[in-house]
Amino acid sequence: MIKVIRAKDYEEMSRKAAAVMAAQIISKEDTVLGLATGSTPEGLYANLVKAYQAGNLDFSKVRTVNLDEYQGLPREHDQSYYYFMNYHLFQHVNMAADANNLPNGMNEDIQAECERYHGVIESMGGVDMQLLGIGGNGHIGFNEPSDHFEQKTHCLALAEDTIKANSRFFASEDEVPRRAFSMGIGEIMAAKKILMVANGKGKAQAVKDMLTGPVTPQVPASILQFHPDVVLVADEDALSLL
Ligand code: PGA
Repeated sequence: MIKVIRAKDYEEMSRKAAAVMAAQIISKEDTVLGLATGSTPEGLYANLVKAYQAGNLDFSKVRTVNLDEYQGLPREHDQSYYYFMNYHLFQHVNMAADANNLPNGMNEDIQAECERYHGVIESMGGVDMQLLGIGGNGHIGFNEPSDHFEQKTHCLALAEDTIKANSRFFASEDEVPRRAFSMGIGEIMAAKKILMVANGKGKAQAVKDMLTGPVTPQVPASILQFHPDVVLVADEDALSLL
């Protein structure tokens, strides 16, 4: 079931989504969080950092596992998702040094890396709350539109739409990595709760298809209709086609 929480703009979306995540951390101090990158969750992370600084959140027992990482970007690269997470969240809060997990984009043994990461997710005993953005093409993590749903962590070719969308962060489109490691749909669906954030008109069609369209791997997010506990916090633009 997907519960929709409406927000008037990006700031309100960020505050409300942060409140949902903060409630999770407060009610279960050793929460396992599944985390996401992208422009959408930046404001959510900023609000979590604020709540931590105000003394309202304790991350000391929280562990995290991220959705995805570009293949071939070292951690130090300012567009790696490791760098993003450190920049927006990890360095600002009191998480343990070994609490954070992302795929290793530099592992040349792709099969081994996918298996390792699946093992990491399993070893955490399940994700309590998985944060998701949504691509304009309906992707979640880097599960791009496809003729099937991938179960587990895999390495895939990014869709043209995604390369174009993400080129805004790179000097040119040529510099966007063409491949990425991503959690699979099965691993995402295994999370106990899912929190999705979406804002802007560019997400309106994908949000509509996710909520009201058929469940199909052509719209990977549509599978969330089959998850028992999804909260979507979206601004008016993202909900404008409903
Ligand atoms: P965005 O990306 O937050 O940068 O729009 C979301 C996504 O592609 O999942």
